Amino acid sequence: MVANNPRKDSRVSQGRRTILTRGVQWLGALLAATILYPLLRFTGHKIPSKPRLIEIAAPLPLSGVHIHHDFLLFAGEGEEQPPHAVSRICTHLGCRVNYQEDKKLIECPCHQSRFTPLGVRISGPAEKNLPSYEVSLKKDAEGRITTYVVHL
Ligand code: FES
Repeated sequence: MVANNPRKDSRVSQGRRTILTRGVQWLGALLAATILYPLLRFTGHKIPSKPRLIEIAAPLPLSGVHIHHDFLLFAGEGEEQPPHAVSRICTHLGCRVNYQEDKKLIECPCHQSRFTPLGVRISGPAEKNLPSYEVSLKKDAEGRITTYVVHL
């Protein structure tokens, strides 16, 4: 007849319990990482977007302003004021702004925020200036502008 050792049985069952507890802990950590990693990547990292290049053929209209769906392109005046482009999305609530040629300013039709042609806020509920975009030029062999390239 074999006598049972209660101390030995207790140690064995405690060892099994420890292994089970650790396994459940590891499984929980793995599950949390599986859920949290994509979530953190989504919220913590912005994938840099590729710049969108929009080409506008020269010459611009006589007004010196090309109205695109997303931006207003100004031809500028010589070297003092090079060509520039500003967003057409109002910084107040996102309406599409228009250029008022007679007043020489940009105006939002929704709540009448006004901006200079450089996109600087003049008045109205919008609190920020219009974002501006870089404009590069393509020229022919004689140095005349052939294309405006707006970097969105
Ligand atoms: S959306 Fe342009 S002023 Fe309100």
